[in-house]
Amino acid sequence: MIHRRNTLAAALVAGALCLAAAGAHAQSKIKVGLMLPYTGTYAALGTAIENGFRLYVQEQGGKLGGREIEYFRVDDESDPSKAVDNMNKLVKRDNVDVVVGTVHSGVAMAMAKVARDTNTLLVVPNAGAGAVTGAMCAPNIFRSSFSNWQPGYAMGKVAGEKGAKKVVTITWKYAAGDESVEGFREGLKSAGGEVVKELTLPFPNVEFQALLTEIAAAKPDAVYAFFAGGGAVKFVKDYAAAGLNKTIPLYGPGFLTDGTLEAQGAAAQGMLTTLHYADGLDVPKDKAFRAEYLKAYKTAPDVYAVQGYDAAQMLGAGLAAVKGDIAKRPELIAAMEKEKIDSPRGAFTLSKAHNPIQDIYLRKVVGTENRFEGVAVKALADPARGCKM
Ligand code: BEZ
Repeated sequence: MIHRRNTLAAALVAGALCLAAAGAHAQSKIKVGLMLPYTGTYAALGTAIENGFRLYVQEQGGKLGGREIEYFRVDDESDPSKAVDNMNKLVKRDNVDVVVGTVHSGVAMAMAKVARDTNTLLVVPNAGAGAVTGAMCAPNIFRSSFSNWQPGYAMGKVAGEKGAKKVVTITWKYAAGDESVEGFREGLKSAGGEVVKELTLPFPNVEFQALLTEIAAAKPDAVYAFFAGGGAVKFVKDYAAAGLNKTIPLYGPGFLTDGTLEAQGAAAQGMLTTLHYADGLDVPKDKAFRAEYLKAYKTAPDVYAVQGYDAAQMLGAGLAAVKGDIAKRPELIAAMEKEKIDSPRGAFTLSKAHNPIQDIYLRKVVGTENRFEGVAVKALADPARGCKM
């Protein structure tokens, strides 16, 4: 009798605790840490990512998986030496449920290490560092953007097919530039060309003059450049000011001309780039997204805004599957892994390593648009070298 009474009491207590827990998570907000560059050469990219993320959340009534979202923001300054401290501000001080970041590959690799060590859910909305979905891949790390290899490889193929045999590359000396050039070299080689000279300068240096003189002297068939944000604006303008665009085609991954065309003006006209987004896509979701983004922010979206929007969609899919109970990690991850993301770029799925498998488009600059020219490589997956998952 006593035994039965104790069992009943225990069941009542457990039930009450369950109800309390359910109530608590129904009411409390999901804490989203945004670790992005809000200053420096990548500042505009960080803002576009945040805008895209917030737009998707607003479209869901301010909630994902039925729970309101609370934001915690850190400016990472695209500085890898501050990345661990900045990540710890979100993870340890603010106790966020998930971190969304960042743009710069060097910063992202440090974030991935902290995410692995602390088992923090991380969604990378830009940085293409191969390691993030390669050697450092993990169940709790996702990317809504690309790997540096993907657009580089596609541009190499296109450049080779257009007859470029000898190409000079130029980039900032850090993971993103190195890996973008590596992808380009691979694609170019598959189409019969080769990289004959690799020029670099430290990030975020924009003193291009001496390197442009070297390019002029080398007289290659084409130049492949990885720069983004403010640095991309300056490089494309300097290249044209040196008169090089008249004789040597300038190719790049689409970051060279995305979100930058107003500032690049005449210098960028006619340039060909490859990316997983373009202006003029025949994608119904893109038309709706562009209209909503323009209404909300009074400016047209770019690839960074799309990646932010899709980071929120990926998280939203996971949270919907667990009805907002973010503690149900395996179920949340399984739902994120199997979701087909209805992206403005065109629907995509994730690879086993959690990187988008996506079409890479060839785009041509016309006015202030990176106009869709065709699909450079269909459903391109990153090789995910070193990922054991
Ligand atoms: C990167 O560091 O991975 C990166 C930065 C800007 C644009 C694209 C890639």
